[in-house]
Amino acid sequence: MVGREKELSIHFVPGSCRLVEEEVNLPSRRVLITGATGLLGRAVYKEFKQNNWHAFGCGFRRARPKFEQVNLLDSEAVHHIIHDFQPHVIVHCAAERRPDVVENQPDAASQLNVDASGNLAKEAALIGAFLIYISSDYVFDGTNPPYREEDVPSPLNLYGKTKLEGEKAVLENNLGAAVLRIPVLYGEVEKLDESAVTVMFDKVQFSNKSANMDHWQQRFPTHVKDVATVCRQLAEKRMLDPSIKGTFHWSGNEQMTKYEMACAIADAFNLPSSHLRPVSTWRFVLFCFIYLFKKWFFFFNAYSLLREHERGRDRDGGMQNPKQAPGSERSAQSPLRGSSPLTVRSGTEPKLDTQLTEPPSTWHFKTSLVESPDLSR
Ligand SMILES: NC(=O)c1ccc[n+]([C@@H]2O[C@H](COP(=O)([O-])OP(=O)(O)OC[C@H]3O[C@@H](n4cnc5c(N)ncnc54)[C@H](OP(=O)(O)O)[C@@H]3O)[C@@H](O)[C@H]2O)c1
Repeated sequence: MVGREKELSIHFVPGSCRLVEEEVNLPSRRVLITGATGLLGRAVYKEFKQNNWHAFGCGFRRARPKFEQVNLLDSEAVHHIIHDFQPHVIVHCAAERRPDVVENQPDAASQLNVDASGNLAKEAALIGAFLIYISSDYVFDGTNPPYREEDVPSPLNLYGKTKLEGEKAVLENNLGAAVLRIPVLYGEVEKLDESAVTVMFDKVQFSNKSANMDHWQQRFPTHVKDVATVCRQLAEKRMLDPSIKGTFHWSGNEQMTKYEMACAIADAFNLPSSHLRPVSTWRFVLFCFIYLFKKWFFFFNAYSLLREHERGRDRDGGMQNPKQAPGSERSAQSPLRGSSPLTVRSGTEPKLDTQLTEPPSTWHFKTSLVESPDLSR
């Protein structure tokens, strides 16, 4: 059945301008997309709209004028929007996905990635909507790829932990929901730093400056348009078959290092790539060694200073030297703080299995295979 809705449009003819109210047909299948202003959400919204779905996009800071502004932390607003729109499907793309922001604002990130996801799942269950929760390969530690859906996650950083907790919150609150884990994304960006792939463009374009690029961690850069198609096909399949639920992995099938991605970008824009330097494993290990040595040396010096200060304080009968003490504390802490991101990032980047010849329980298909997907599980 097709619904109808009144639409206002402005008609221009030479010499006059009229406001016209028309009844328009609306597709009967309704999808609500959270994070529709983001890198993936924009593609998901477009994909559903172009395939005869009535798509309703929500954003937050960038929502107006195209999308509805809904703060997912406001559970009352979420309740109203879902009950007013009555979607058949919800694709939940909104998240805090920048690992450094998650580390710096853990409570805010957890509220969005975990609590808001659980609440959305609960609301979806109340009206019988199918929820697709977008998750990440960061739920794995990357030590033993490729990963299958049944492998036990073990996130290294806080971002990965919140995405995993988000998965659990969704599946606990909505038994029929789906979790779709995907790797690093690229696509049309509003700013280069929207994607870990396009952000490399700066290093590529300034060819007068040599740039060291990681050439040992294998990644599977995945285009947002393909993930959007996967979401739509998953939703359409589910409308025919209620047994479609649970956890799915999907990624592009090209395996590349950052160096190879940067060369591909240079190629695509007809730019030189001779200034890009591949950094291989042994060079990376050497780099880490020098880095850690420097940090240790710095830490050791700071520690000696601190000890010296402590001795001085003991000598002064517990009185702090106001000039020395705060400085020594800062020096003693900063190497530790500085080294933690390295511990997180130095491991192999997690990646998902992209093989097509997997057991039937896994669900993969090629980036280019968008016409006739095999969604059989
Ligand atoms: N990017 C990647 O490489 C990658 C890789 C694997 C998995 N993922 C996952 O894919 C999903 C989409 O990622 P993305 O790269 O598209 O993210 P993104 O570009 O950073 O977009 C984040 C979205 O969340 C919205 N948002 C933030 N706070 C909100 C709030 N309080 N209420 C409502 N909406 C809020 C933002 O809206 P405004 O901008 O309007 O504020 C934006 O639309 C995420 O779940 C992410 O974890 C991403």
